Parts: sequence; C-alpha cells; structure tokens
Amino acid sequence: MTGAAAVLPMAGLLFLPLLLLVGSGSSGVWPRPQLFRVPQGGGQCSLSPSRFRFGYAGSSAVGPGCVVLDQAFQRYRRLLFPELTENDLAWDSLCNELLVTVNMPGCDGFPDMHSKENYKLDISEEQMLLTADTVWGALRGLETFSQLVWRDDNGTYYVNETDIIDFPRFAHRGLLLDTSRHYLPVGAILETLDVMAYSKFNVFHWHIVDDPSFPYQSIAFPELSRKGAYNPATHVYTTSDVKMVIEHARLRGIRVISELDTPGHTLSWGPGAPGLLTPCYTGPNPSGSYGPVNPILNTTYQFMAKLFAEVSAMFPDFYLHLGGDEVDFTCWRSNPDIQAFMQKMGFGQDYAQLESFYIQRLLDIVSAYGKGYVVWQEVFDNRVKMKPDTIIHVWKENSGAYQKEMARVTKAGYRTLLSAPWYLNHISYGQDWLQAYQVEPLEFEGSPEQKNLVIGGEACMWGEYVDVTNLTPRLWPRAGAVAERLWSNATVRDLQDAYGRLADFRCKLLGRGIQAEPLFTGYCEHEYRGI
Ligand SMILES: *[C@@H]1O[C@H](CO)[C@@H](O)[C@H](O)[C@H]1NC(C)=O
Ligand SMILES: *[C@@H]1O[C@H](CO)[C@@H](O)[C@H](O)[C@H]1NC(C)=O
Ligand SMILES: *[C@@H]1O[C@H](CO)[C@@H](O)[C@H](O)[C@H]1NC(C)=O
Ligand SMILES: *[C@@H]1O[C@H](CO)[C@@H](O)[C@H](O)[C@H]1NC(C)=O
Repeated sequence: MTGAAAVLPMAGLLFLPLLLLVGSGSSGVWPRPQLFRVPQGGGQCSLSPSRFRFGYAGSSAVGPGCVVLDQAFQRYRRLLFPELTENDLAWDSLCNELLVTVNMPGCDGFPDMHSKENYKLDISEEQMLLTADTVWGALRGLETFSQLVWRDDNGTYYVNETDIIDFPRFAHRGLLLDTSRHYLPVGAILETLDVMAYSKFNVFHWHIVDDPSFPYQSIAFPELSRKGAYNPATHVYTTSDVKMVIEHARLRGIRVISELDTPGHTLSWGPGAPGLLTPCYTGPNPSGSYGPVNPILNTTYQFMAKLFAEVSAMFPDFYLHLGGDEVDFTCWRSNPDIQAFMQKMGFGQDYAQLESFYIQRLLDIVSAYGKGYVVWQEVFDNRVKMKPDTIIHVWKENSGAYQKEMARVTKAGYRTLLSAPWYLNHISYGQDWLQAYQVEPLEFEGSPEQKNLVIGGEACMWGEYVDVTNLTPRLWPRAGAVAERLWSNATVRDLQDAYGRLADFRCKLLGRGIQAEPLFTGYCEHEYRGI
C-alpha cells in the first residue's frame, strides 16, 4: 500500500462524521473489477524486471504483429518496472510471463460503441493468464494487471494470487475536454488519453471549437482557424495533430467523438465565414454584432454540408456530437429578415421552432454521411424531430432536475448520456470527488427498459478557467470517481474502500509521472518528480 491519509475529517460540502481509513490494499485496483477473488492463503509470486515478458498464447486469435497489443506490451513493461532491481531474486520465477489470449481476430480497427471490453485474469504461482474477447478487452486487462504488481522494501516486484472477471457496467465512459476557451497543446491531450486508459475511460469527447476560438484547422475552410484561432500558427490543431490524437486514442481502446457545436457557441466562426452568422439589430439598424448561425440562408446549409463532409471523414467514429445547446434567441429576434422568415414558415414567436428547423437540416446532412449523432438535451427539449438512434446528452444541473430529464428522454425512447453531476471544472474546498462518486446514473423514475437506454456518461472539463497549467491536477484523480461509477458494479459504493483505492491510484499516477492532486493529507512512496 502506498502511503495515504490515516484519518480524515470530511470537509467541504458533505459534513458527514465519517472516518475514512487507508484502504486494505489487497484490492488496490481502480476502477474496482466486477469479480475480484484472492484465494484464501493465496501466495505471491515474484517478477524479474529483466526477464518478464508478455506473450501471446498459442490459441490466441491475434499474435505478434498486432500493433495495438505489441505497443501496449512495451508501454506496460515500462509502467510495471520503472526501476531495475539490484539483486534480481526473481530471474527464475514462473511469473515472468503473462500469457495473453484474445478470442476474436482484429487489431487494425477502431473501438466502437459495441466493442466488448470484458477480460479475465488468472494469476497463480504456476501461470499468469489474461483472456479477452477483443484486443480492447485485453488492454483493460493489462491495465488491471499493472495495478496488481507491487514492490517490497527491498525492491523486489510481486504479484499476489488473484482471479478477476471483469467487464464494464456502461458502454460509453467519456471525458470531455474543451479546447476553445483555452488552447490545450496536443501533448496535454495525449497525456489525458493515457490517464483515461489507466482509469478505463473509453470515449474522448473533443469539444474542439466554441465562441472564444476556432483551433480546428479545416481543409475545406482554412479561413476558419486562420481568423478564428487565438493564433493561427501556434494555437491550432492541424490534420496531422488530429490524426495523432485519434491514433493515440485507438491504441488505448478510446473512441474520439468530435463536437463542432452549432448553431450557438459559434462566434469564433464568424470572421472566417462571412455571412454564416446572424447579424443582430438595434432597432432598424445592424448593431455590428453577430448571433448564432443564420438558419434562413441556403448558403448556411451548403457550408455545413461541406464542413461536416470533412469532419465526418476526419473522425472515424460512427458518432459526431452536434452540440445544439444554449441557443440565445435575442439576436434572431432582433433581425427583420429572420422575423419575416418566421412569419413565412408560420413559426409565430416560437424561436425554438426556428432552432429545430436548423437542427433538423443539419441532422439530415450528417445522416447522409452515414453518421450517428449525439446532441445536448435542449435539442430534445425543443422537440426537434430526430432519428430514433439519436443520443441525448443530459447536462443541465439545476437542483436535481437531471433525474427528471433522464426520465423524460428515456420515456421518449431515446438513449442518453449523463454529464449533469459530473462538471469537474467546478471545484470546491474539500473532497469534492465524493459527490461525483455518489451519483447513481439509473436513479430516476422509469421502467427497466428506460434504464437500459442509459448508455453511460461523461465527465466534463470546461475550459473557462482551465489550461495546460491546471488541467491535469484538476482532472485527476477526480475524474477517476466518474470512471469507477461507470465501470464498476452499482453496489461498489463504500466510501472508505473507495478512498483507500483512489488515494492509492493517485500515488500510482504520480509514479507514472502524472501530476494528480492529493485527496487529503498523506504521502506517496514515490512523490511527483516535476522539475
Ligand atoms: C499482496 O499480499 C500481501 C500479503 O498478503 C499483502 O500485504 C499486500 O497488501 C497484497 N498486495 C496487493 C497489491 O494486493
Ligand atoms: C530484505 O532483505 C533483507 C536482507 O537480505 C532481509 O533480511 C529481509 O527479510 C528482506 N525484506 C523483505 C521484505 O523481503
Ligand atoms: C433555397 O433553397 C430552396 C430549396 O432548395 C429554394 O426553394 C429557395 O428558392 C432557395 N432560396 C434562395 C434564396 O436561393
Ligand atoms: C453486482 O453486484 C450484485 C451484488 O453483489 C450482484 O448481485 C450482481 O449480479 C452484480 N451485477 C453484475 C452485472 O455482475
């Protein structure tokens, strides 16, 4: 057990008289596996850093040359043995090989919503076996294995006899980064993907552009970032950057879902796309400022068709996130051309109908490219007509209202993702990971069929007050709370046990060079070695 707090008074929002003690250490895996068994009187087996290897079992459907696993083996060798052992007592140990069996062929593809991630680990003194249906499941098992290995005071590496059967509770376990409020260097995104893999997240939701800046360098419309990025030379994501992010994610079994949010949140698009945004009026005259995308012009849809053709090809995932949140109607209301269009269409004063008109056309465009879509909850709230396989992303936090929204969305038969209680950009004094941890995504009124429509959720890190200086400590280990809620059995809710394992996981992150913040007082055997 790496050092952690002994006794902790709860500060912050939850004034519970709880004493959280150091976790037992015997099950120090985060997120907690579904079935975890340490045989009674089970022993431990030593590992030799110089001789240890990962191997493919003869019966495995994939073998050497499978890039996803070959590279994972290299990564995990480095993570397992950051230091060599001076007197290697384990050179003839039977635990110097982890044999991997993958039942289904396939190494070159991308993970998707339906990818299986289940795996089994049998660790005994005679043999160590990892079995999975897919390479993605094997990746999850490798991570778990890496968390089982520990070191004694003399520096010898061990793994305890353990049987694990594991699989995720939810298929969609996402994390959102916002690269518009502040530009995040590609390296920061890649590191985030690494830690996502350590905590078994499997979707990177890239909120790539928004009002403040447009860093996505479009091939079809290069003016968008040339005029909309904070700096068109240094604060952009080129095609090769985007491809690097997608491949880094793929190698870790992580999907990348891009979000180019419209028709609101688009101010940064304006300079590079003349005529795209709605001119706002003061009285009879244009005020010189701009509102949401102009939904009444055919040119708008020509533009979107071309842009989303590019985006659909660039991001291989079946799903695009199309945004659709927080559309401010004041500018549309002020514009006489829009008023005339509203009249012609018979929308009256109901600007939600105008928004629907826009979104429906956008959805048609994206469907024509063979893509599925995720939208923020307002699109559902405004009764836009959507394909039945649309995913509704619930984010509005106001006083527990999200449970009602989950009930409404699933009652209408749509699949849903939960983010409302998981805005990790919000911080407070004390242990605020507890709030995120104690959420139960299925705690709303509805039938079992409705509950089945909850495909998962996402932790969000909005960027108003976050850039590369504070991204990592603000995310980790707090996002881990969401990761465990989405991966582990619903009954895994013991705060004392969770505290011990999360503090331990955080120490492991420090050992892996990740600047994760502390949960509370204590220390780690290997502290962060920045500078
Ligand atoms: C392994 O077993 C030893 C001895 O029973 C125990 O002290 C230790 O906490 C266990 N470690 C892990 C990582 O399970
Ligand atoms: C560490 O090594 C010393 C000297 O060889 C030995 O006496 C001691 O038992 C070892 N400790 C452990 C935890 O293996
Ligand atoms: C826009 O397109 C519609 C349908 O294709 C067409 O009827 C209409 O005349 C066009 N409007 C303009 C201003 O081009
Ligand atoms: C979750 O845990 C409960 C209680 O241990 C168990 O009955 C249930 O089968 C578990 N669920 C899954 C999907 O394994």
